[in-house]
Amino acid sequence: MKILKTFIFALILSSSLSFSSLANQSVEEIIKGRKAMFSENYQNAKKISILLRSGKKEEAKPLMKKISDNYKKLLDYFPENTKEGFKTEALPSIWENKDEFNALMQKASDDMLKLAKAIDTADDLGAIQKKLMWSNCSACHDRFRAPH
Ligand code: HEC
Repeated sequence: MKILKTFIFALILSSSLSFSSLANQSVEEIIKGRKAMFSENYQNAKKISILLRSGKKEEAKPLMKKISDNYKKLLDYFPENTKEGFKTEALPSIWENKDEFNALMQKASDDMLKLAKAIDTADDLGAIQKKLMWSNCSACHDRFRAPH
């Protein structure tokens, strides 16, 4: 009987332990997941600049779509339980101004699709990238990402 009780206790303990580590892992996965998407966007934004400088507009367009899609996914990557840990640079202001933060994310996403269209006719490719791509990075970082 005692052995059985110990066994059941151990079973409950191990299952609750694995639950809590699963919960932890998902916060870790979310924070690391969003960092990875921002990094990927940065790499692709730099590639876009290089491609456009050498007139390779068609090659740049899929990368713009990819950044736009990442921004849309990122809308779901800031749940309440991911305010801290795992070296996040996300500021508390995100959760205090969630609508504004999401609106900036959505605008950044929409602007990448506008950029893909605008490059067909724009005279100044540098200026249009600044307006529809780079300015959105700083607009958001200034308010919602810790200085790094
Ligand atoms: C709507 C808000 C928003 C926009 C737009 C945005 N960022 Fe960020 N970015 C963030 C936040 C918030 C973090 C911090 C994420 C974290 O550490 O959890 C971040 C983090 C990063 C990181 C660090 C990733 C890491 O590994 O820690 C890079 C690089 C980055 N952003 C680049 C960019 C670039 C380049 C653009 C524009 C092309 C951009 N971001 C647009 C909000 C934004």
